[in-house]
Amino acid sequence: MLECVGESCANLQSALLPAGAEAADVATLFWILAAGAILIWLMLLGTAVYAVRVDPGKHDQRHARRFIIWGGVALPTLVLAAVLGYGLTLLTDFRAPGDGLRIAVSGERFWWRLRYHAGDKGSPWSETFAEAPHDIAFDSANELHLPAGERVELYLYSPDVIHSFWIPSMAGKIDMIPGRVNRLVLEPTRPGVYRGVCAEFCGTSHGVMAFDVIVSPRDQFQQWLKHQASSASLDDSHSGFRAFMANGCGACHSVRGTDARGRVGPDLTHLGSRRSVGTSLLANNAENIARFIAEPAHVKPGVAMPAFGMLPDKDIEAIAAWLEGLQ
Ligand code: CUA
Repeated sequence: MLECVGESCANLQSALLPAGAEAADVATLFWILAAGAILIWLMLLGTAVYAVRVDPGKHDQRHARRFIIWGGVALPTLVLAAVLGYGLTLLTDFRAPGDGLRIAVSGERFWWRLRYHAGDKGSPWSETFAEAPHDIAFDSANELHLPAGERVELYLYSPDVIHSFWIPSMAGKIDMIPGRVNRLVLEPTRPGVYRGVCAEFCGTSHGVMAFDVIVSPRDQFQQWLKHQASSASLDDSHSGFRAFMANGCGACHSVRGTDARGRVGPDLTHLGSRRSVGTSLLANNAENIARFIAEPAHVKPGVAMPAFGMLPDKDIEAIAAWLEGLQ
Protein backbone atom coordinates (compact mmCIF):
# COMPACT_ATOMS: atom_id res chain seq x y z
CA MET A 1 0.00 0.00 0.00
CA LEU A 2 1.41 3.36 -0.98
CA GLU A 3 0.91 6.23 1.38
CA CYS A 4 1.15 9.58 -0.28
CA VAL A 5 -0.16 13.03 0.42
CA GLY A 6 -1.03 15.63 -2.20
CA GLU A 7 1.67 16.30 -4.74
CA SER A 8 3.81 13.29 -3.89
CA CYS A 9 1.06 10.92 -5.17
CA ALA A 10 1.69 12.15 -8.72
CA ASN A 11 5.38 11.26 -8.34
CA LEU A 12 4.53 7.58 -7.83
CA GLN A 13 2.97 7.01 -11.18
CA SER A 14 3.60 9.70 -13.74
CA ALA A 15 5.07 9.11 -17.18
CA LEU A 16 6.01 12.81 -17.19
CA LEU A 17 8.15 12.50 -14.04
CA PRO A 18 10.44 9.70 -15.24
CA ALA A 19 12.59 7.69 -12.82
CA GLY A 20 13.89 5.30 -15.47
CA ALA A 21 15.94 5.66 -18.66
CA GLU A 22 13.15 4.31 -20.90
CA ALA A 23 10.50 6.54 -19.32
CA ALA A 24 12.83 9.53 -19.80
CA ASP A 25 13.01 8.73 -23.55
CA VAL A 26 9.23 8.45 -23.71
CA ALA A 27 8.82 11.76 -21.84
CA THR A 28 11.27 13.51 -24.20
CA LEU A 29 9.37 12.14 -27.21
CA PHE A 30 6.12 13.41 -25.65
CA TRP A 31 7.48 16.95 -25.18
CA ILE A 32 8.88 17.03 -28.73
CA LEU A 33 5.47 15.93 -30.11
CA ALA A 34 3.62 18.41 -27.88
CA ALA A 35 5.88 21.31 -28.93
CA GLY A 36 5.54 20.29 -32.61
CA ALA A 37 1.75 20.05 -32.32
CA ILE A 38 1.54 23.53 -30.75
CA LEU A 39 3.81 24.98 -33.45
CA ILE A 40 1.76 23.46 -36.30
CA TRP A 41 -1.49 24.59 -34.66
CA LEU A 42 -0.15 28.17 -34.41
CA MET A 43 0.93 28.07 -38.07
CA LEU A 44 -2.54 26.88 -39.13
CA LEU A 45 -4.20 29.54 -37.00
CA GLY A 46 -1.90 32.17 -38.54
CA THR A 47 -2.76 31.02 -42.06
CA ALA A 48 -6.49 31.13 -41.30
CA VAL A 49 -6.24 34.64 -39.82
CA TYR A 50 -4.20 35.75 -42.85
CA ALA A 51 -6.78 34.37 -45.32
CA VAL A 52 -9.82 35.76 -43.47
CA ARG A 53 -8.57 39.06 -42.05
CA VAL A 54 -5.29 40.24 -43.60
CA ASP A 55 -5.81 39.37 -47.28
CA PRO A 56 -9.40 38.17 -47.74
CA GLY A 57 -9.49 38.79 -51.49
CA LYS A 58 -9.17 36.27 -54.30
CA HIS A 59 -5.80 34.43 -54.38
CA ASP A 60 -3.63 33.65 -57.35
CA GLN A 61 -4.31 30.01 -58.47
CA ARG A 62 -0.64 29.22 -59.03
CA HIS A 63 0.35 30.48 -55.54
CA ALA A 64 -2.50 28.60 -53.92
CA ARG A 65 -1.55 25.32 -55.56
CA ARG A 66 2.11 25.73 -54.56
CA PHE A 67 1.03 26.50 -51.01
CA ILE A 68 -1.07 23.30 -50.86
CA ILE A 69 1.73 21.11 -52.24
CA TRP A 70 4.42 22.46 -49.88
CA GLY A 71 2.29 23.09 -46.80
CA GLY A 72 -0.24 20.26 -47.21
CA VAL A 73 1.87 17.43 -48.67
CA ALA A 74 5.61 18.06 -48.31
CA LEU A 75 5.62 19.50 -44.78
CA PRO A 76 3.49 16.76 -43.12
CA THR A 77 5.50 14.05 -44.92
CA LEU A 78 8.78 15.50 -43.68
CA VAL A 79 7.55 16.07 -40.11
CA LEU A 80 6.03 12.57 -39.79
CA ALA A 81 9.11 10.90 -41.31
CA ALA A 82 11.39 12.78 -38.88
CA VAL A 83 9.23 11.79 -35.87
CA LEU A 84 9.12 8.15 -37.07
CA GLY A 85 12.92 8.10 -37.53
CA TYR A 86 13.46 9.52 -34.04
CA GLY A 87 10.97 7.04 -32.53
CA LEU A 88 12.73 4.10 -34.21
CA THR A 89 16.11 5.11 -32.76
CA LEU A 90 14.55 4.88 -29.27
CA LEU A 91 13.53 1.24 -29.87
CA THR A 92 17.16 0.04 -29.95
CA ASP A 93 17.57 1.08 -26.27
CA PHE A 94 14.51 -0.94 -25.29
CA ARG A 95 16.03 -4.03 -26.90
CA ALA A 96 19.58 -3.72 -25.53
CA PRO A 97 20.76 -6.47 -23.15
CA GLY A 98 20.56 -6.17 -19.36
CA ASP A 99 23.31 -6.29 -16.72
CA GLY A 100 22.61 -9.82 -15.42
CA LEU A 101 19.51 -9.73 -13.25
CA ARG A 102 16.42 -11.30 -14.84
CA ILE A 103 12.95 -11.21 -13.43
CA ALA A 104 10.17 -13.35 -14.80
CA VAL A 105 6.78 -11.73 -14.26
CA SER A 106 3.53 -13.56 -14.72
CA GLY A 107 0.15 -11.82 -14.72
CA GLU A 108 -2.20 -13.92 -12.60
CA ARG A 109 -5.82 -13.26 -11.67
CA PHE A 110 -5.33 -10.78 -10.01
CA TRP A 111 -1.79 -10.57 -8.76
CA TRP A 112 1.81 -10.67 -9.98
CA ARG A 113 4.05 -13.72 -9.77
CA LEU A 114 7.71 -12.72 -9.72
CA ARG A 115 10.73 -14.97 -10.17
CA TYR A 116 14.18 -13.48 -9.64
CA HIS A 117 17.20 -14.96 -11.40
CA ALA A 118 20.75 -13.72 -11.33
CA GLY A 119 23.90 -14.96 -13.03
CA ASP A 120 22.62 -16.83 -16.05
CA LYS A 121 21.31 -16.26 -19.54
CA GLY A 122 18.08 -17.10 -21.30
CA SER A 123 14.39 -16.73 -20.60
CA PRO A 124 13.39 -17.56 -17.01
CA TRP A 125 10.23 -19.14 -18.41
CA SER A 126 11.97 -21.82 -20.49
CA GLU A 127 12.24 -25.39 -19.16
CA THR A 128 16.02 -25.58 -19.63
CA PHE A 129 16.43 -22.32 -17.77
CA ALA A 130 14.53 -23.64 -14.75
CA GLU A 131 16.86 -26.65 -14.52
CA ALA A 132 20.09 -24.71 -15.05
CA PRO A 133 22.11 -23.72 -11.95
CA HIS A 134 21.76 -20.10 -10.85
CA ASP A 135 23.53 -17.96 -8.31
CA ILE A 136 20.15 -16.79 -7.18
CA ALA A 137 16.68 -18.05 -8.04
CA PHE A 138 13.57 -17.57 -5.96
CA ASP A 139 9.89 -16.70 -6.22
CA SER A 140 8.14 -13.67 -4.81
CA ALA A 141 4.97 -11.73 -5.53
CA ASN A 142 3.35 -8.33 -5.87
CA GLU A 143 6.32 -6.16 -4.93
CA LEU A 144 8.99 -5.49 -7.53
CA HIS A 145 12.44 -4.56 -6.22
CA LEU A 146 14.99 -3.07 -8.61
CA PRO A 147 18.56 -1.80 -8.24
CA ALA A 148 19.15 1.84 -9.25
CA GLY A 149 21.47 2.37 -12.22
CA GLU A 150 21.34 -1.20 -13.51
CA ARG A 151 19.60 -2.62 -16.53
CA VAL A 152 17.22 -5.39 -15.49
CA GLU A 153 15.53 -7.73 -17.96
CA LEU A 154 11.89 -8.59 -17.42
CA TYR A 155 10.27 -11.60 -19.08
CA LEU A 156 6.52 -11.10 -19.15
CA TYR A 157 4.00 -13.85 -19.48
CA SER A 158 0.43 -14.79 -18.59
CA PRO A 159 -1.05 -18.28 -18.14
CA ASP A 160 -4.63 -17.39 -19.16
CA VAL A 161 -5.88 -13.88 -19.96
CA ILE A 162 -4.09 -10.82 -21.40
CA HIS A 163 -2.72 -8.29 -18.91
CA SER A 164 -0.57 -5.25 -19.60
CA PHE A 165 2.46 -4.48 -17.47
CA TRP A 166 3.03 -0.78 -16.88
CA ILE A 167 5.21 1.20 -14.50
CA PRO A 168 4.68 4.72 -15.88
CA SER A 169 7.72 6.14 -14.04
CA MET A 170 10.00 3.44 -15.49
CA ALA A 171 9.04 2.61 -19.08
CA GLY A 172 6.26 2.19 -21.60
CA LYS A 173 3.64 -0.51 -21.16
CA ILE A 174 3.85 -3.98 -22.65
CA ASP A 175 1.25 -6.74 -22.95
CA MET A 176 1.46 -10.08 -21.13
CA ILE A 177 0.08 -12.62 -23.56
CA PRO A 178 -0.67 -16.34 -22.99
CA GLY A 179 1.61 -18.54 -25.11
CA ARG A 180 4.20 -15.82 -25.60
CA VAL A 181 7.01 -14.26 -23.56
CA ASN A 182 7.59 -10.52 -24.03
CA ARG A 183 10.83 -8.92 -22.97
CA LEU A 184 11.25 -5.50 -21.39
CA VAL A 185 14.43 -3.84 -20.09
CA LEU A 186 14.15 -1.41 -17.19
CA GLU A 187 16.88 0.96 -16.07
CA PRO A 188 15.75 2.81 -12.95
CA THR A 189 17.67 6.02 -12.41
CA ARG A 190 16.28 7.29 -9.08
CA PRO A 191 15.83 5.30 -5.84
CA GLY A 192 12.31 5.58 -4.47
CA VAL A 193 8.90 3.96 -4.32
CA TYR A 194 6.76 3.88 -7.44
CA ARG A 195 3.55 2.25 -8.57
CA GLY A 196 2.93 -0.21 -11.37
CA VAL A 197 -0.47 -1.13 -12.78
CA CYS A 198 -2.23 -3.57 -15.06
CA ALA A 199 -3.21 -1.53 -18.11
CA GLU A 200 -5.42 -4.03 -19.95
CA PHE A 201 -8.87 -5.08 -18.77
CA CYS A 202 -8.45 -8.63 -17.47
CA GLY A 203 -11.49 -9.29 -15.28
CA THR A 204 -13.36 -8.25 -12.14
CA SER A 205 -10.37 -6.99 -10.19
CA HIS A 206 -8.43 -5.47 -13.08
CA GLY A 207 -8.79 -2.02 -11.47
CA VAL A 208 -7.00 -3.09 -8.29
CA MET A 209 -4.26 -5.10 -9.97
CA ALA A 210 -1.47 -2.73 -8.96
CA PHE A 211 1.94 -3.30 -7.40
CA ASP A 212 4.62 -1.45 -5.50
CA VAL A 213 7.97 -0.86 -7.17
CA ILE A 214 10.90 -0.24 -4.85
CA VAL A 215 14.12 1.06 -6.35
CA SER A 216 17.11 0.98 -3.99
CA PRO A 217 20.82 1.73 -4.30
CA ARG A 218 22.83 -1.27 -5.51
CA ASP A 219 24.24 -2.41 -2.13
CA GLN A 220 20.89 -2.20 -0.42
CA PHE A 221 19.29 -4.11 -3.28
CA GLN A 222 21.91 -6.89 -3.10
CA GLN A 223 21.20 -7.25 0.64
CA TRP A 224 17.50 -7.46 -0.07
CA LEU A 225 18.09 -10.05 -2.82
CA LYS A 226 20.22 -12.24 -0.53
CA HIS A 227 17.69 -12.07 2.26
CA GLN A 228 14.74 -12.88 -0.03
CA ALA A 229 16.60 -15.85 -1.54
CA SER A 230 16.94 -17.39 1.94
CA SER A 231 14.32 -19.65 3.49
CA ALA A 232 11.91 -18.36 6.12
CA SER A 233 13.26 -18.18 9.63
CA LEU A 234 10.90 -20.58 11.24
CA ASP A 235 9.30 -21.12 14.61
CA ASP A 236 7.51 -24.44 14.08
CA SER A 237 5.97 -24.33 17.55
CA HIS A 238 3.98 -21.21 16.50
CA SER A 239 0.25 -22.00 16.60
CA GLY A 240 -0.16 -20.04 13.34
CA PHE A 241 2.34 -22.27 11.56
CA ARG A 242 0.53 -25.38 12.76
CA ALA A 243 -2.87 -23.99 11.70
CA PHE A 244 -1.41 -22.99 8.31
CA MET A 245 -0.18 -26.52 7.67
CA ALA A 246 -3.21 -28.28 9.17
CA ASN A 247 -5.71 -26.35 7.01
CA GLY A 248 -3.98 -27.11 3.75
CA CYS A 249 -2.74 -23.57 2.97
CA GLY A 250 0.50 -25.16 1.74
CA ALA A 251 -1.35 -26.83 -1.16
CA CYS A 252 -1.51 -23.44 -2.91
CA HIS A 253 1.21 -21.38 -1.22
CA SER A 254 4.94 -21.90 -0.73
CA VAL A 255 6.86 -20.99 2.37
CA ARG A 256 10.46 -21.98 1.71
CA GLY A 257 11.93 -24.02 4.55
CA THR A 258 8.59 -25.76 5.26
CA ASP A 259 6.55 -28.49 3.58
CA ALA A 260 4.32 -25.81 2.08
CA ARG A 261 5.26 -26.03 -1.60
CA GLY A 262 2.07 -25.00 -3.43
CA ARG A 263 2.55 -23.18 -6.73
CA VAL A 264 -0.99 -21.93 -7.34
CA GLY A 265 -0.96 -18.80 -5.19
CA PRO A 266 1.73 -16.28 -4.25
CA ASP A 267 4.95 -17.38 -2.50
CA LEU A 268 4.65 -16.30 1.15
CA THR A 269 8.22 -16.96 2.37
CA HIS A 270 8.88 -13.31 3.24
CA LEU A 271 5.31 -11.98 3.22
CA GLY A 272 5.92 -9.90 6.36
CA SER A 273 8.63 -7.89 4.60
CA ARG A 274 6.26 -6.61 1.92
CA ARG A 275 4.59 -3.22 2.19
CA SER A 276 1.09 -4.45 1.41
CA VAL A 277 -1.21 -7.44 1.15
CA GLY A 278 -3.84 -8.14 -1.52
CA THR A 279 -1.85 -6.59 -4.40
CA SER A 280 -1.14 -3.20 -2.82
CA LEU A 281 -4.72 -2.84 -1.56
CA LEU A 282 -4.18 -3.14 2.20
CA ALA A 283 -1.40 -2.11 4.56
CA ASN A 284 0.57 -5.17 5.61
CA ASN A 285 -0.44 -6.03 9.19
CA ALA A 286 -1.91 -9.08 10.93
CA GLU A 287 -5.40 -7.57 10.99
CA ASN A 288 -5.49 -7.10 7.21
CA ILE A 289 -3.93 -10.50 6.52
CA ALA A 290 -6.68 -12.06 8.68
CA ARG A 291 -9.29 -10.08 6.76
CA PHE A 292 -7.93 -11.36 3.48
CA ILE A 293 -7.83 -15.00 4.64
CA ALA A 294 -11.44 -14.82 5.91
CA GLU A 295 -12.99 -13.04 2.91
CA PRO A 296 -10.55 -12.63 0.01
CA ALA A 297 -13.32 -11.86 -2.49
CA HIS A 298 -14.53 -8.93 -0.35
CA VAL A 299 -11.11 -7.35 -0.69
CA LYS A 300 -10.51 -8.41 -4.29
CA PRO A 301 -13.60 -9.58 -6.23
CA GLY A 302 -13.00 -12.51 -8.59
CA VAL A 303 -9.89 -13.70 -6.74
CA ALA A 304 -9.13 -17.44 -7.09
CA MET A 305 -8.44 -17.97 -3.37
CA PRO A 306 -11.40 -19.52 -1.54
CA ALA A 307 -12.69 -17.87 1.66
CA PHE A 308 -11.52 -19.39 4.95
CA GLY A 309 -13.99 -17.51 7.14
CA MET A 310 -15.33 -20.84 8.42
CA LEU A 311 -12.13 -21.42 10.44
CA PRO A 312 -12.25 -20.45 14.11
CA ASP A 313 -11.24 -16.78 14.59
CA LYS A 314 -8.32 -17.79 16.77
CA ASP A 315 -6.88 -19.95 13.96
CA ILE A 316 -7.21 -17.18 11.39
CA GLU A 317 -5.63 -14.69 13.79
CA ALA A 318 -2.79 -17.10 14.57
CA ILE A 319 -2.08 -17.75 10.85
CA ALA A 320 -2.13 -14.00 10.16
CA ALA A 321 0.23 -13.28 13.06
CA TRP A 322 2.61 -16.03 11.88
CA LEU A 323 2.58 -14.77 8.27
CA GLU A 324 3.18 -11.19 9.40
CA GLY A 325 6.23 -12.45 11.27
CA LEU A 326 7.77 -13.96 8.09
CA GLN A 327 10.19 -11.10 7.51
CU1 CUA B 1 -4.55 -7.68 -15.13
CU2 CUA B 1 -5.92 -5.94 -15.96
